[in-house]
Amino acid sequence: MIKLQNVNKYFGDHHVLKDINLEVAEGEKLVIIGPSGSGKSTTVRCMNFLEEPTSGEVYIEGNQLTAKNKLEMVRNSSAMVFQQFNLYPHMTVLGNLTIGPMKLQNKSKKEAEEIAYRYLDIVGLREKATAYPSTLSGGQQQRVAIARSLCSEKKIILFD
Ligand SMILES: Nc1ncnc2c1ncn2[C@@H]1O[C@H](COP(=O)(O)OP(=O)(O)OP(=O)(O)O)[C@@H](O)[C@H]1O
Ligand SMILES: [Mg+2]
Repeated sequence: MIKLQNVNKYFGDHHVLKDINLEVAEGEKLVIIGPSGSGKSTTVRCMNFLEEPTSGEVYIEGNQLTAKNKLEMVRNSSAMVFQQFNLYPHMTVLGNLTIGPMKLQNKSKKEAEEIAYRYLDIVGLREKATAYPSTLSGGQQQRVAIARSLCSEKKIILFD
């Protein structure tokens, strides 16, 4: 499902990822642990080309990710929960959850809201649907970000 082959990443002369090889099969969950600054986020961000590896290859379902095909491939196959959540501050929780499915998957507002409430129930935040992110606790914001990633109903979810 996801394969990293000999992935290296430099920021300037800082060699952050050193020859990373890993594979995640369908149905498998891979957890990466390590000290702050050791390259966990960078590894995850290389999986959807938010960071382009300096060398090495990334494969999603057998297809190599490239600068050219990344938008289409990543959009079709994966969602991401950002370390800083990256919720849209000017939109309500429901707005945050429905904009992606409506804009990128052409879902109707009604359909997108049904999906949103389904995942808000799962993360226990239905009553916050009309709240703005700034009024939520950190944990609640994190759960909104998780619900937002689930709303895309993608095969791969990357949790930073
Ligand atoms: N855009 C960037 N430009 C320059 N250096 C960067 C950039 N992004 C990350 N780094 C550096 O790469 C190293 C790895 O960062 P990364 O964010 O992957 O760490 P992490 O393991 O996710 O840490 P944390 O546990 O604190 O989230 C750090 O030394 C960081 O300063
Ligand atoms: Mg990180």
